[in-house]
Amino acid sequence: MTISASAPAKIILFGEHAVVYGEPAIAVPVTALQATADISPSDDGFKIIAYDLDDAIIRYNTYAEDQPLQRVLTLLQDVHHCDLPSVSIGVRSHIPMASGLGSGAAVTTAIARAVTQAMGKTLSLDALNRIVYEVETIHHGTPSGIDNTVIVYEQPIYFVREQPIEHLMIGQPFTLIVADTGETALTHIAVGDVRKLVTSEPEQYRPMIREIGKLTKLARQHLEAGEIKALGPLMDTNHAWLQQLTVSSPKLDQLVTAARAAGALGAKLSGGGRGGNMIALVQPEAAGDVMAALTSNGAVSVLQTMVN
Ligand code: PMV
Repeated sequence: MTISASAPAKIILFGEHAVVYGEPAIAVPVTALQATADISPSDDGFKIIAYDLDDAIIRYNTYAEDQPLQRVLTLLQDVHHCDLPSVSIGVRSHIPMASGLGSGAAVTTAIARAVTQAMGKTLSLDALNRIVYEVETIHHGTPSGIDNTVIVYEQPIYFVREQPIEHLMIGQPFTLIVADTGETALTHIAVGDVRKLVTSEPEQYRPMIREIGKLTKLARQHLEAGEIKALGPLMDTNHAWLQQLTVSSPKLDQLVTAARAAGALGAKLSGGGRGGNMIALVQPEAAGDVMAALTSNGAVSVLQTMVN
């Protein structure tokens, strides 16, 4: 019998980077993009077949070659007080890697869910979230925890580092376009560069971080009240602050500008930046024009998603 478990991608609507400094951020799951772990019985102990990630197939001879997988398996054995089951595990994901969509956290979540089932155990969302965060530290050093939290809980969240999770009630569903620059960028490099700026010139950069925090708080009120149009200008302002923090890129700026010109209510980069994905808030009737503009400006993939 095959066991399969999945986890969605995520996007950050407001507050990336500032969240590292204790300001709030808002993130939502993207269920159209999923990572899945498939487990089937094996006669010769625990085996990893292959990762098929974003069309790149990566094969490992043993899971010990794959540090994040090894860490998640060790953590699962500790938490469940149980040896690894004798199974083969294959992982497939359509979430672009290193693009601000939470590919790493989604893959870890899917694996943890599937292996837990194969062990005949259950895991609370809180316990799963702690495990996925722990594995995220291998990729990102000291991540804020926003990626693992929104992916594990699969709900919109208002996230403040080291504070209890707040689930966000969206007053009115809305449409987002997510477009990929095709440029990959490592989040921990962008986070490290922002830290250098904030540390070396706090009088210039600290206020920007606080301004992002303020607009995120305002965005929460509009989201809860269902005042969708009011979110557009806040996204534009958030993008401008992220440009000041040096985490945008020419391609991100081009796509953001193109989306606005084609009728988006607002647009910004999403996630670590320097490449990866941007998001545009649209009224459903403008979605086609905005998607066409993003494609003609070089986006390598364009996706429409509903947030509710
Ligand atoms: O993993 P990404 O690229 O979506 O970025 C995470 C958001 C940051 O605020 C840039 C980093 C963090 O740890 O919160």
